[in-house]
Amino acid sequence: MSKPKPSPLPPKTVIGGYRVVRKLSAGGFGVVYLATDKDGQQVAIKEYLPSALTSRAPGELVPEVASEKLSLYRLGLKSFFEEGRSLAQISHASVVSVLNFFRENETVYMVMNYLEGATLQDFIVTARDLKKQKVFRESTIRSLFDEILRGLRIVHQHKMLHLDLKPANIFVTNENKAVMLDFGAAREVLNKDGNFTRPMYTPGFAAPEMYRRDSTMGPWTDIYAIGACIYSCMQGYPPNDAPQRLDKDRLGLSLTRMRGVYSDNLIEMVEWCMSLDPLSRPQSVFALQKELGREGERQYTKLSVGEKVRLQFDNVMSDAKKNIMRATRFGPK
Ligand SMILES: Nc1ncnc2c1ncn2[C@@H]1O[C@H](COP(=O)(O)OP(=O)(O)O)[C@@H](O)[C@H]1O
Ligand SMILES: [Mg+2]
Repeated sequence: MSKPKPSPLPPKTVIGGYRVVRKLSAGGFGVVYLATDKDGQQVAIKEYLPSALTSRAPGELVPEVASEKLSLYRLGLKSFFEEGRSLAQISHASVVSVLNFFRENETVYMVMNYLEGATLQDFIVTARDLKKQKVFRESTIRSLFDEILRGLRIVHQHKMLHLDLKPANIFVTNENKAVMLDFGAAREVLNKDGNFTRPMYTPGFAAPEMYRRDSTMGPWTDIYAIGACIYSCMQGYPPNDAPQRLDKDRLGLSLTRMRGVYSDNLIEMVEWCMSLDPLSRPQSVFALQKELGREGERQYTKLSVGEKVRLQFDNVMSDAKKNIMRATRFGPK
């Protein structure tokens, strides 16, 4: 059986002068709590608690770390701390605000502004279940990513990369502000099994260079993820992951289906951001902002009947090809 997850701190626990109200979320690297400060103001607190390296019995405060995992635990802790420190220097409406950082219970806590709303992922799931032709209106997509890009530009100016941009890490507040969360923290050092690794990646949003052991990561790596986020807002689903695309790229085809629904310019922007070659993407957030903010007449190219038929034919053919490939791969030699 797999190891039980370390228990979150129970409600009413006081840490660093803050009182825990309840757990908001528990991921592989830590737990996020809603808490109140001494004035009764609500805050969100993220506790470094990697589930692969720690255990904690219900009601306990200090996480237990097996001696052979201690050095990895400390390394991750240092990285969580560093990340929080860098983030604390950034003050921007689209970047979650870090209010405080403290050590207690032999671990680290990051205190953030408490945001009320839901993640972009929650919105996408709700919208796509309504089965409308469009998941989001183009104007909504443009203004949402205009805000995100303003924040991301500042992040890059601070020599940081996000490296895990995805709808689940973009929060939309009740005042309709888009805020980026979850700046990787311990991820650069640890993976789920507690081994050293490159940053963890999310299929569909991670650029191809994140799967390779070279150092071509840069602003363009986050820009790939932005393209994938915009794609998700159009289609309701994430794009194919980069290795799949390198094998057989169907991005152009699925974007073709969006013609007439979204402007040619938006579709081309997604293709540009999601170029498999890092050098073919916008090299800076600024370059992308210029394109996203372009005013003027938007062109919509509707598909002709002939093109629609062709598209369907291509789909049928590609399914048939897949079936043949499956049959040859698994069939008798
Ligand atoms: N400042 C915050 N205010 C409100 N909710 C938050 C805040 N930070 C995180 N959360 C909630 O906790 C979830 C997980 O946080 P995140 O930083 O993405 O950590 P991880 O994905 O590593 O567990 C978010 O999806 C969000 O629902
Ligand atoms: Mg997250």
